[in-house]
Amino acid sequence: MWVVILLLVALACCTAWWVITNKDEPPAYPGYLPLIGHAHLLIGDTINLWNLVKMISYKSLKAEGAVSLWIGPRRLYFVADPNDFLKIANTCFQKDEIYEYAKPWVGNGLVTSDALLWKAHRKMLNPAFNPAVLDGFIEMFNSQARRLVKSLEVEAGRGPFDHWAYSRINALETICFGALGIDFRNKNDLFNEYANATEELFSIVLKRFQTIWLHSDFMYNRSELKKRQDKLLTFVHNMSNGILKKKKADLLNCDNVEDKKKGKEAIFKPFLDLILELSREQGTFNDEEIREHVDTIILAGYDTSAIVVTYVLMLVGSYPHIQKKVCEELHEVFGDEDRDVTKQDLSKLVYIDAVFKETMRFYPAAPVVARHLDKDIKLRNCTLSKGKTCILSVYGVHRHAVWGLDAEEFKPERWLDPATLPDVPNAFAGFSMGRRNCIGQAYAGMSIRIILSHIFRNYKVYGDHTKMVARFDILLKPVSGYHVQIEKRNK
Ligand code: HEM
Repeated sequence: MWVVILLLVALACCTAWWVITNKDEPPAYPGYLPLIGHAHLLIGDTINLWNLVKMISYKSLKAEGAVSLWIGPRRLYFVADPNDFLKIANTCFQKDEIYEYAKPWVGNGLVTSDALLWKAHRKMLNPAFNPAVLDGFIEMFNSQARRLVKSLEVEAGRGPFDHWAYSRINALETICFGALGIDFRNKNDLFNEYANATEELFSIVLKRFQTIWLHSDFMYNRSELKKRQDKLLTFVHNMSNGILKKKKADLLNCDNVEDKKKGKEAIFKPFLDLILELSREQGTFNDEEIREHVDTIILAGYDTSAIVVTYVLMLVGSYPHIQKKVCEELHEVFGDEDRDVTKQDLSKLVYIDAVFKETMRFYPAAPVVARHLDKDIKLRNCTLSKGKTCILSVYGVHRHAVWGLDAEEFKPERWLDPATLPDVPNAFAGFSMGRRNCIGQAYAGMSIRIILSHIFRNYKVYGDHTKMVARFDILLKPVSGYHVQIEKRNK
């Protein structure tokens, strides 16, 4: 008996020694234990997980861009160097296994689909997000921004409040209305339930990743977590199937033509219309695929945009001199008018654009993304082996030395002068990088800058981001509330 135990211990130690001294690969992250690797570091809540993501990102930066970790026998790389990030993102298009955990929810939508299918679908869907299509969204973005401003009135002058509660519902309405062409506005109860369900689904995906024995389908399918996931999915899929059914009926009744006559807001062409057209004319997508794209667009588009708005409010509210500059710019462009933001205005709102980008650099809504390496990749300082998981740290890239000594400071001014920006073109990864980056980035940029232009014209914002405690829930979210207060501005 003792001999067997000794042999096992010796084997574990040899394996440990072998794996962590493999010279060509990135160095091991501290804390490796025989057999379980770094799995013990994953234990804990999502606050702990966020601290871990940050620590590994900084360690990768110190280790010249990358470190290795093991979850049991499974080896992961963690990369935080901008050039290496881009190289990996543009060499391996296959998403990592963790994305499989979200497939029961979003199937083969763009975020989770396998590389081959993704290439074909992305090509077909790119036109739905081109600049001409996006211009058609401006009025709708303005009217949604006004709705948000109006809904916030009850909080003006009443002390700190949870801005997230308002912005996520507004963002969900916007995505349903803009991307899917369905007007669900004033359905707050339904939306709250939907938003809570999606939040819990994110947590379930993460919980599964954190719990090694649930990586196996056999174990997971018998777990309580899976039962809960199924229940939430029934609700979420019912909603997207409902959207799809209504949209198909509308198209059949040519309601969209009528809508165009009814109001200006309907001049844009929703993303879902394009998919339905493609499937009708070219037979490209079946109903299941359409539902998966619908779920993906909602999932990828609303939470992320809402989080960025809340971070901007918290950060700008924390720095009065920055808010002053935001307001001066708004005054220069709009005077005292409360009019809509036009495309021409957007190109003049350079400081607001800088605030938006700097917020996404400082608190990236999606702090990491992950790829499956389907080939060996030679980086500047090491080689990554085929078959492994590679976590690309957006957070790490945004804290890289290329950003200068003030990388830890929130400084929108850095975006105003090319001389104060990094001299590598890939230092910003807020929407990921390479060909499999965010398809909705121009959509998000436009809608968020319009929202900010309305909010800061109407409210003075006070915040304190230093009080924020963050958690990693696939996305980066605050647990501590948003520490934001607003006051109505005197016109
Ligand atoms: C500020 C808001 C947003 C942020 C920070 C953001 C961030 C990202 C990131 C980091 C990725 C890469 C994900 C990965 O590789 O795992 C991504 C992909 C994606 N995003 Fe966004 N996103 C935002 C808004 C949007 C919006 C508004 C839409 C849709 C209207 C959208 C649709 C998508 C889709 C479909 C993908 C998958 C693209 C592909 O694999 O081809 N996103 N986004």
